[in-house]
This record gives sequence, structure tokens and C-alpha cells, in this order.
Amino acid sequence: MDILGTVRETRDKVKEWKAQGLSVALVPTMGYLHEGHRSLMERARKENDKVVVSIFVNPMQFGPNEDYESYPRDLDRDAGICRDAGVDLIFHPEVSEMYGDNFHSFVDMTVLPEKLCGASRPIHFKGVQTVVSKLFHIIPADRAYFGQKDAQQLAIIRRMVIDLNFDIEIIGCPIIREEDGLAKSSRNTYLSKEERKQAVILNQSLEEAVKAIDAGEKEAAKVREIITDKLNTCPLARIDYVEVVSFDNIQPIEEIEGSVLIAIAVYIGKTRLIDNRIIM
Ligand code: PAJ
Repeated sequence: MDILGTVRETRDKVKEWKAQGLSVALVPTMGYLHEGHRSLMERARKENDKVVVSIFVNPMQFGPNEDYESYPRDLDRDAGICRDAGVDLIFHPEVSEMYGDNFHSFVDMTVLPEKLCGASRPIHFKGVQTVVSKLFHIIPADRAYFGQKDAQQLAIIRRMVIDLNFDIEIIGCPIIREEDGLAKSSRNTYLSKEERKQAVILNQSLEEAVKAIDAGEKEAAKVREIITDKLNTCPLARIDYVEVVSFDNIQPIEEIEGSVLIAIAVYIGKTRLIDNRIIM
């Protein structure tokens, strides 16, 4: 497994594989890898000849008061996980390699980033789209793998690829959870022992919503109320948002019909966690 830090070397390597007729997968990450990331790598490994993982904590997608500086980083550990998963190449650039002096170009979108995480993190998706576009250009892969954990991100990347004619297939992968149901996240490491215990409320509140929908509930407002009531039973939880939207355009809906995304963001202490369910 190679670990490369420059755009030139990485692009040359991937082009060499493409010239040999090999299929290439890209798994974009910010590192501090866990089972969620690993599930994307394993799927990529099964479906492609070569697997590239990018590890880059992208400053452009963090707001001024967010956790860019403190975001956990451990390249040695990440490299071990990638090696075990059969990854062929890690792309691990410095910030200066991705954003040189005089960087002025951005990729942005209307509608899909307006609600949910985009409402509380206004520049976040512009940063995500810009870096993912750059990664797609640097690593001309056949397929890229994204988790449903970040459902709005997945919807935005799918839309961007269609709108801007990127020649890459986007594969969405299911959420990997801890045994008690908490969605795996690099940010779970911020939680104290007590916070970690209470964080299970996110998944539990979504479970209750799904149960109600299975029993015939069609009203989005009622579904939001069920989730909010459950979250409010937890002393350490502070709701950022509880939303029921269409998965295609991430706009609020009144009735549960078609493909629906139920998405929540909740502070447990100081740590902001997200979780969701997609109802088809
Ligand atoms: P990061 O948070 O490191 O996540 C990388 C990928 O792993 C994303 O596609 C995310 O949805 C997926 N993932 C995270 N936790 C998961 C879980 N529990 N189950 C399944 N998949 C999970 O998302 C980003 O990085 C960045 O925004 C990025 C796309 C790399 C752009 O900087």
C-alpha cells in the first residue's frame, strides 16, 4: 500500500491503473477511521480492482467556531486499518497541496444544502462539494463510496455528479452502529462516559418514529413530535434539528410518501451528533 501526498503522484498512479484497464474506487474520508469507514472500504474492495482512500481533514468545510483544530488525527493507526482492509493507496495531502495561495474557486449548490446541517453549518456543504470535486479530478475513479450516515451529504454529492456531469458512479452504503445503536462517528471520541451512555437516545428516538410509521402514521409533524418528545427525556440532549424531508431535494414534507429522510442533529453536552433513517 502506498501513501502519497501530492496531486501529481496520485493522479499518475491512478491513470496508470486506468491505462491497464483496471477499475478504481475512491473512498473519501477525513481519517480517524472506524468501522463505518471500513464498511465503505470493504464494499469498494469487493467491487473494484483498486481502492484509493483519501484522508484529508478539509478546513474549508469547518465553520470558524467548529472543531477543525481539535478534529482527531492519527495517520499511523488509519494506515493500519487501510492495510487490513486491502486498500491499495492512501492519498494524504497537506492543506497547502489542496489549497495553494490564491485559491478562489468553489463548487456550490442551491436548495439541497439549505435545510438540516446546512442551516446550522452555512458554509459546510460548499466546502464538502469543493473538496469532493477536487478529489474526483485528482483521482479519476469509476466509483466513489459514501455513507448514509451523512445522508444530506450523500444526496448533495449525487445531485452534484448529475448536474456537473462527473463521470463517476456514487454508491451509498448503510450506517454502521455500535452495539447499543449509536451510529459510529469519529466525533464519538469527544463524549464523556455519561454522555456516551445518553447518546444512544438519537437512535432510540428514530426507532420510535419508524415504529409509528410502520403502524400507519403518515403525518410528518407527528413523526417529528415523537422524536422530539423522546429526545427531550434525555437531560444531556439539546436538539439542533429534527426534520422530515424528501430524500431527493431535502425539502420539508407534510406527508410520509415516496423516499423520505428523517434526520436529526443533537448536542450531547458540547458534541453535535447526527443520525437518520431513510424510508423508501
Ligand atoms: P468522514 O466524516 O470521515 O466520513 C467519510 C465517509 O464515511 C462518509 O461518506 C461518511 O458518510 C462515512 N461514514 C461515517 N460514519 C459512518 C457510519 N457510521 N456508517 C457508514 N458510513 C459512515 O464525510 C466526510 O468525512 C467528509 O465530509 C468528506 C466526504 C471526506 C469530505 O471532506
